[in-house]
Amino acid sequence: MRLYDIAKPVLFSLPAETAHSAVHGLLETAQGTPVTTAMARRYTVSDDRLAVSAFGQSFDNPVGVAAGFDKNATIPNALASMGFGFVEVGGVTAEPQTGNARPRMFRLREDGGLINRMGLNNEGAAAVGERLAATDVPFPVGVNIAKSEHVGTDAAPADYRETYEQVAEGGDFFVVNVSCPNSQGFEELQNRAALTAIFEELRDAGASPLLVKLSPDLPDPAVEDTLELVTELDLDGVVATNTTTDRPEGLRSPNASEAGGLSGKPIEDRATRMVRFVAERVDVPVIGVGGVSSAEGAYRKIRAGASLVQLYTGLVYEGPSLARDSNEGLLELLERDGFDSVEDAVGVDL
Ligand SMILES: Cc1cc2nc3c(=O)[nH]c(=O)nc-3n(C[C@H](O)[C@H](O)[C@H](O)COP(=O)(O)O)c2cc1C
Repeated sequence: MRLYDIAKPVLFSLPAETAHSAVHGLLETAQGTPVTTAMARRYTVSDDRLAVSAFGQSFDNPVGVAAGFDKNATIPNALASMGFGFVEVGGVTAEPQTGNARPRMFRLREDGGLINRMGLNNEGAAAVGERLAATDVPFPVGVNIAKSEHVGTDAAPADYRETYEQVAEGGDFFVVNVSCPNSQGFEELQNRAALTAIFEELRDAGASPLLVKLSPDLPDPAVEDTLELVTELDLDGVVATNTTTDRPEGLRSPNASEAGGLSGKPIEDRATRMVRFVAERVDVPVIGVGGVSSAEGAYRKIRAGASLVQLYTGLVYEGPSLARDSNEGLLELLERDGFDSVEDAVGVDL
């Protein structure tokens, strides 16, 4: 029996955000103590075949934690001790934000999903930036940079720049989040003119490596437009995808009618299709995210063109051994299919 088989029913008896905060608090307390040393021994899978190099960064393994889990960069070392290969902290905004009213995070237990409308609650770029700069972390840390709630499209480039400049020192790569479904004004950002202005401003500020995170709700022509910009403006990578405001048919959970962005199992195939769509059109690395909760799921995204994968909802349902299980499983799948490394398997289904 795994520890999480005992912990999960207790956590699931609490409201979703309360459970998340409890786990977060425990990890923060454990960080830097013998507990995380023991966790690292238990959960780290060391194998050169898992190593990935992407946008100038070296990753020990391809399984990372998606944006939103460690919004304020308080637990990167605890996440490293859980065997993850990287984390994307944030979303971070220029000033602190409280986000939407609670409840704002819901489990779709019958569907293996979550719906959230957090609304980019975070401590603000100054606090996150200082914390990151003062923390030694054993793996690459991406920073998810988002638009402040009150800022309109015209002022967005300067707002992203202000955030970037405050987190620049502690981040290893930077992800422009133009796809948050739970905060005002993001839809208007996802067009050619608005995106160009934001990327040019961030490039001018020295942001590199610079990636863009896409919404699965963008129609294909808009995705194609954005991908043309990735090439034209020489961006370093694409993260696909964020949560969706769509509700696929067949959701069984009563929480399916809550407003917000859906993540987890119900978006897995859609996110994988988007990874493939992106990888077919750009030469830069793709980070695949959406519904990954097993080695098989990670492998499907890798074969569809993802150099790296990330997860959030899977961690809620599968618990702390997920990075280890995914990495061990990936090694078996690579061996089964005759690949020498993860990098050899990237995009083989294209
Ligand atoms: C509670 C919650 C908060 C999130 N916050 C952010 C965020 O601040 N910025 C962002 O780009 N994505 C955010 N996401 C989206 C995740 O990074 C990821 O793209 C999405 O959940 C799909 O992955 P998953 O199915 O593995 O959860 C959030 C997701 C959840 C569930």
